[in-house]
Amino acid sequence: MPGGATVGASMSTKSLEKIMALCKRRGFIYQASDIYGGLNGFWDYGPLGAQLKKNLRDLWWHDVVMEPCNGAVGPDGRPVEVVGLDTCIIQHPKVWVASGHTDTFNDPMVDCRETKARYRFDHVQVYVPADGAETTKPRFAFVAGTPSEARQRKKADKAFGTVSVVPLASLPVESWARVIAPDADSPGTLTEPRAFNLMFRTYIGATATEDDLAYLRPETAQGIFVQFKNVIDSTRVKVPFGIAQTGKAFRNEVTPRNFTFRSREFEQMEIEFFCHPEQARDWYRFWCAQRLAWWKTVGLAGENLRVREQTRDELAHYARDGAGTSDIEYRFPFTDPDFGEIEGVAHRADFDLATHQKHSKQKLEYFDADRGELLPNGGRKGERYLPHVIEPSAGLDRGVLALLCEAFTEDASRPSPELLKLHPRLAPIKAAVFPLVAKEGMPEVSARLHRDIAQRLRRHGFVEHDVKASIGKRYARMDEAGCPYCFTIDGQTLQDQTVTVRDRDTGQQERIGLDHVVAYLGDKLGV
Ligand code: GAP
Repeated sequence: MPGGATVGASMSTKSLEKIMALCKRRGFIYQASDIYGGLNGFWDYGPLGAQLKKNLRDLWWHDVVMEPCNGAVGPDGRPVEVVGLDTCIIQHPKVWVASGHTDTFNDPMVDCRETKARYRFDHVQVYVPADGAETTKPRFAFVAGTPSEARQRKKADKAFGTVSVVPLASLPVESWARVIAPDADSPGTLTEPRAFNLMFRTYIGATATEDDLAYLRPETAQGIFVQFKNVIDSTRVKVPFGIAQTGKAFRNEVTPRNFTFRSREFEQMEIEFFCHPEQARDWYRFWCAQRLAWWKTVGLAGENLRVREQTRDELAHYARDGAGTSDIEYRFPFTDPDFGEIEGVAHRADFDLATHQKHSKQKLEYFDADRGELLPNGGRKGERYLPHVIEPSAGLDRGVLALLCEAFTEDASRPSPELLKLHPRLAPIKAAVFPLVAKEGMPEVSARLHRDIAQRLRRHGFVEHDVKASIGKRYARMDEAGCPYCFTIDGQTLQDQTVTVRDRDTGQQERIGLDHVVAYLGDKLGV
């Protein structure tokens, strides 16, 4: 449905609105199809946003595939091994039958945490005060044609006098805390509509009959499971090892909202780590700790980041029998004081390999030559088994949003009252060079310095050269863009070959030699 993203009006969403405005103003994120009024649940990344997103994706790839866990050893005492993969968005439709997505991807449902009842989201209606008056009293949900209709009506009449009926879908999710589910006693027990049952459909080929039906993948994970055998057969990897990939996923979310947090098209960064079933608990703990530590290295350190073990009720169907699932969560302005998931680490046991083995009729068992009975010759008999899987599954867009929220800072005393304190490793603009004024030879010196820095740093991000507007305005622009260092050529540069370097976070300036600038930046950025 076309239209802008839904944003509530609480104090905390006010700062989300400011972040969204800055993102648009500085070219980080725009509403998709903006000139046509936007498309709800779809977002485009502008020049700075695309680079920020790429920096985060590249860092993940480096720290997961190129140098897994920075060379740390796993619980088996050996270096962690992970290989990369890049599978298709459109898979054979049987993949989604095997994974369970086809069956469960029906109509959106809401669950009641109190009674464990499940309702079609579009069937749930709510009794509210007839005059629409804002009241803190509970609202009463019911399903037409069931006993809940009369029972809840009685309670609503008593509470409000005259009542109206509205669909649950028309009430903002934030207000559901006051809604009493059709068969419940306490308010706030309805879950949000489940998104797992909403795959986007498409057709392969020209005829577009139901036989040609295919789906846009709702997660990148399944592409990894269906290529598990090929990876084992074509490389020298041995269990335990991981397969990682990044890529787009699509979910026709019922209530996309909170900027890019819940979108209909988003990008995931997923690892499927295969291990012996007996080692699964150790690897689960290992990956929970590793992934939390990784998010800290990108600048989410502090009390806004936490890891939370899911309760039994929350566990996905594939994770019910294992070591559990832990969510790495960030306190977003729109979840505050609560937290929102940026990555889940799940023990999926052998659910996926077993189901694909059954549906494809292909043996997906792994032969582990290092296990089994000890033989007289000192070797092992070997063991055949379906590996268990630990899945650290992160959202790239949610990661970028967390970085932006963490970096967003208000300071009325600064040239820019709003700035982004992005981690220098991830900042899209690494440095800017300015002449103090556009005369007296300063632009020529700054152009030369810009060229030298760009030569060294272009691989890592943008280096700006700006000669227009007052120096205060240029600093303000760079602060909003999250550029960590600005170098200014002034009258003194022409005399003693020094420049000022301004630190974005403190606003403090110091002088350094012109010929030290490149080394200074390399040192500060760790590149
Ligand atoms: N393969 C497991 C899986 O897909 P998930 O918890 O559904 O698990 C993993 O998704 C991550 O993908 C989440 O932690 C979140 O960061 C991101 N994600 C999921 N749905 C999203 C959405 N609608 N919009 C943006 N990111 C989403």
